[in-house]
Amino acid sequence: MCGIVGAVASRDITPILVEGLKRLEYRGYDSCGVAVYDNGSLRRARSTERVAELADHIAKDSVAGFTGIAHTRWATHGAPATHNAHPHFSSLTGNEPSIALVHNGIIENHEELRRELQGVGYVFESQTDTEVIAHLVHHLYQGDLLDAVQQAVKRLHGAYAIAVFCRDEPHRIVAARQGSPLVIGRGKNENFLASDALALAGTTDQIIYLEDGDVADLQLGNVWIMDSGGKRIERQIHTVHVHTGAAELGPYRHFMQKEIFEQPRAVADTLEDVESVTPELFGDAAYKIFKQIDRVLVLACGTSYYAGLTAKYWIESIAKIPVSVEIASEYRYRDSVPNPNTLVVTISQSGETADTLAALKHARSLGMEQTLTICNVSTSAMVRECKLAYITRAGVEIGVASTKAFTTQLTALYMLTLALAQVHDRITDEQEAEQVKALRHLPAAISAVLALEPQIIAWADRFATKENALFLGRGMHYPIALEGALKLKEISYIHAEAYPAGELKHGPLALVTEEMPVITIAPNDVLLEKLKSNMQEVRARGGELYVFADDDTKIVSSEGVHVIRMPEHYGYLSPILHTVPLQLLAYHTACARGTDVDKPRNLAKSVTVE
Ligand code: G6P
Repeated sequence: MCGIVGAVASRDITPILVEGLKRLEYRGYDSCGVAVYDNGSLRRARSTERVAELADHIAKDSVAGFTGIAHTRWATHGAPATHNAHPHFSSLTGNEPSIALVHNGIIENHEELRRELQGVGYVFESQTDTEVIAHLVHHLYQGDLLDAVQQAVKRLHGAYAIAVFCRDEPHRIVAARQGSPLVIGRGKNENFLASDALALAGTTDQIIYLEDGDVADLQLGNVWIMDSGGKRIERQIHTVHVHTGAAELGPYRHFMQKEIFEQPRAVADTLEDVESVTPELFGDAAYKIFKQIDRVLVLACGTSYYAGLTAKYWIESIAKIPVSVEIASEYRYRDSVPNPNTLVVTISQSGETADTLAALKHARSLGMEQTLTICNVSTSAMVRECKLAYITRAGVEIGVASTKAFTTQLTALYMLTLALAQVHDRITDEQEAEQVKALRHLPAAISAVLALEPQIIAWADRFATKENALFLGRGMHYPIALEGALKLKEISYIHAEAYPAGELKHGPLALVTEEMPVITIAPNDVLLEKLKSNMQEVRARGGELYVFADDDTKIVSSEGVHVIRMPEHYGYLSPILHTVPLQLLAYHTACARGTDVDKPRNLAKSVTVE
């Protein structure tokens, strides 16, 4: 999703802007641009290509300046074309531009504002909602940019993070946030802003997280922040050590591959020094809250939603607490029956997903106050908004298709299951100790699965020629089948669907021919015999089966049945192990098809708009 970088300094800041954009590339974008103040005028370079190409334009045209803003755009209003790329300029016809602005989010009342601004003489060059804000700020400007932005944001409905500067006050950037992430980076006699701290890694580690309604005034020596009421406020400066290596590939071809192979480390870090699972791992008030709740509501999107679906099987089976799992964008708009004794659990890698945040607010507005988030970003809005939190330690995830974030979410959710079971007396100390032991061995077990990569590459070459695939799983492996299908479609663009294997005969069997690969997750659990019958149903129709079978299932390859042997069955944690080969299958299939694995078309990493 859109990324913002800005800088006000006494040196040429274009290299900082370009580096920041490169670090934001992982969020997904389809065009990019920078604008700087240069010797009395505003200059701009924009491109529908990659940031590297934008950097070439900047070098060729000698774009340089002391103050500037930059942007990666993920198109919402208007096609991904140069004229729609940010920064947007504003001036009245015939005049040199005097306002430059970048924006992340969606302005819902843009049409009404556009008509109003056209009425007073503004001419629009783009189809974006962003250009409306640029003209609005210009229209309201009377010599004080802060004042103009404060007035302008009062007119905006929707979500935004904006950064704007003005030719007439060249050592100043004004920024505002409402619903979309924005951080300030403090330097010595220079200041910065960006969508996340990673974009500023290597430039400054002194980070202020703006809150909704904040307007910030960045000048050379200082930053002033005003809250939504216009009152000056102090926001804490955090020293953020973003691991700059996170943005480096090392020996890997893609970030997705790197991140798949980081999973043993990510899971180990997420478990940290956990010797036993206690409610306090989720926050000081966790015991009291866990004790008083008698149901769980999970809210999430995308891959995080599938983590929630898996957790439902665990929590209902082990902690015996009823769980419902809702897609955040659906939940927020439907009538539901609230129960104040609910633990509302949001799951989010980024902690900034607009729909999940809105669903959380909706749940709270219905009187459900006990909130917990499983989140990978400790400084995110989600963590701030929830009473309890468990921070997964996946590290920065760059690939748009989530991998290590998912397995660490599952790890945290399993700990939540054990903590709930403990508080509700549904597990003995011995059973718990056994589960903690299994958790601690998980990194090694994942490493063993990663060693299957060469066999998976051989399958991927065959998959690359297909246009459809079916994924089957049963029980707690059904959400893993869904996640496997999502991974394959996201990055290889092969149409993939997942079904609980028992549903096969109720529809999807009609699709099964020799052309349809059927990927089957075959753990050695109580459903194995049922699953084998489902596999027969596929074979009888000529379908080719590709089976990830636990070693102790004794399923062997035969005509039309290809088997990759997994380690022995891993009990409740088996879904985590079975995720890994599906990630590798999607990854290598996409490589064989030559797609842009880390930046799949049309997708964004952090979806900060509705
Ligand atoms: C986007 C990403 C997915 C992610 C989903 C939810 O669609 O491409 O990888 O699962 O958002 O994101 P979150 O940060 O809330 O987990």
